Amino acid sequence: MSKNIIIAIDGYSSSGKSTMARTLAKAVGYRYIDSGAMYRAVTLWALRHNMIEADGTVNSTRLTEALPDININFTTATDDRPQQTLLNGENVEEEIRRLAVSNHVSQVAAIPEVRHHLVRLQQDLGHEKGIVMDGRDIGTTVFPDAEMKIFVDASAEPRAQRRFLELSDKGQAVNYEEVLANVVQRDHIDMTRAESPLRKAADAVSLDNSTMTTEEQDRWLLELFKQRTQCE
Ligand code: DC
Repeated sequence: MSKNIIIAIDGYSSSGKSTMARTLAKAVGYRYIDSGAMYRAVTLWALRHNMIEADGTVNSTRLTEALPDININFTTATDDRPQQTLLNGENVEEEIRRLAVSNHVSQVAAIPEVRHHLVRLQQDLGHEKGIVMDGRDIGTTVFPDAEMKIFVDASAEPRAQRRFLELSDKGQAVNYEEVLANVVQRDHIDMTRAESPLRKAADAVSLDNSTMTTEEQDRWLLELFKQRTQCE
């Protein structure tokens, strides 16, 4: 007999945690939620409504007032199509991954009202358990009682390399130095913000995925999942 649990996967940007979370969710038949996509969708909305100035300053008062008008949903993944992010019903999956959004998302994610709003939505999504959620504060703030918590660790360079290849594959004109600078800047903002900064939960298991193949990593996660879902 096994029980339904919550799996929280936290870590730095571009650490491969979303691929890991998506693969694990599929393998165990759980729902996957990309919490970063929610912060990205709010950032896209703010950009479209001219709430982010050229110097990166976010008009947090206007954005906070607008939060009830920002509706974020996800499509269900199929074998042919991964989950897509919907912003007020529009598929923004591709647009939220662009550098214009990446460059401002950490500033938006540092606004306490934005975090409170999205954390509540995330907690609602996990209400029935049977969920894998990845982000920065899932094991610490969103689901402090999650039965399985992973913290993915890796230095900035391999993560920037991964992001650079992803963006280049999508045909976006980016250079490696620019991507590395963005990764380093986001790490800094994510770790130093006052409201739920990125940190490892005391009961999270660390995983440095630069030392494991994808297959080893997937096997390791499944083994941990089995241990955590066994009923006494
Ligand atoms: O995982 P990602 O790179 O798509 O996340 C985008 C940004 O959102 C990242 O810079 C930090 C922020 N974020 C956050 O503050 N808390 C989360 N739970 C998820 C993401």
